[in-house]
Amino acid sequence: MNIILMGLPGAGKGTQATRIIEEMNIPHISTGDMFRAAVQEGTPLGLEAKSYMDQGQLVPDHVTIGIVKDRLAKEDCSSGFLLDGFPRTVPQAEALDQLLTELGRELEHVVYIDVKEEELMRRLTGRYICRSCGASYHELFAPAKVAGVCDRCGGELYQREDDKAETVANRLKVNMKQTQLLLDYYQSAGIVVRVDGMQEIDEVTDEILTKIRDGKL
Ligand code: AP5
Ligand code: MG
Ligand code: ZN
Repeated sequence: MNIILMGLPGAGKGTQATRIIEEMNIPHISTGDMFRAAVQEGTPLGLEAKSYMDQGQLVPDHVTIGIVKDRLAKEDCSSGFLLDGFPRTVPQAEALDQLLTELGRELEHVVYIDVKEEELMRRLTGRYICRSCGASYHELFAPAKVAGVCDRCGGELYQREDDKAETVANRLKVNMKQTQLLLDYYQSAGIVVRVDGMQEIDEVTDEILTKIRDGKL
């Protein structure tokens, strides 16, 4: 199963990805998580990515496409993958199409988590992330059982550098235009699955899994 998870910043891509991969046994590939790991390790990729991420801008396509190509070539992707936050531009989508053709594979679903703009700011500014496993929490909507500690792995929770209100506003602006172009791109292929992301977290998961399993497009 080759799946793309799309949605504006804060729509719940990471939250849903964690749940979907448990059900489907495919790797979760988040370009945002990969960039944040590189920033933490202080690699040249991390240094380059950080300058864009801190301003809520997209990392240039050639950089992003390069890391995804390397990642999809890994053995654990042989029976499928769940891409979170990639592609985010039409050139990235075209590069992915070309790569999949080379690998003799096809995209099955592009899941779009639809959330109203005014909700996104509330979700992002109250978010906490696990430093070890990347799980997302929210101080009001999805609190950890013990404050500051990850329910899943016991890791430390922190707030993302780019979740400050000014940066969030820019991320939303940058992503809004690209998202519409991408939806148009995949709409013509007839593989877009729209999911109502304004529901409770569990309800969103159920809707995604039901639609994917039924092949209801
Ligand atoms: P990335 O890390 O992908 O950030 P993003 O797209 O801005 O999305 P988020 O991770 O912020 O949101 P999410 O949808 O995962 O929401 P979450 O589940 O956490 O990318 C970061 C940066 O890296 C980019 O800005 C860019 O610079 C760079 N980058 C990455 N990919 C790139 C690419 N392809 N090209 C170029 N640059 C790239 O949920 C959010 C909050 O809401 C949480 O607190 C959660 O608990 C809560 N929540 C979730 N669902 C619900 C619900 N149903 N009800 C109530 N609360 C909920
Ligand atoms: Mg995320
Ligand atoms: Zn954790």
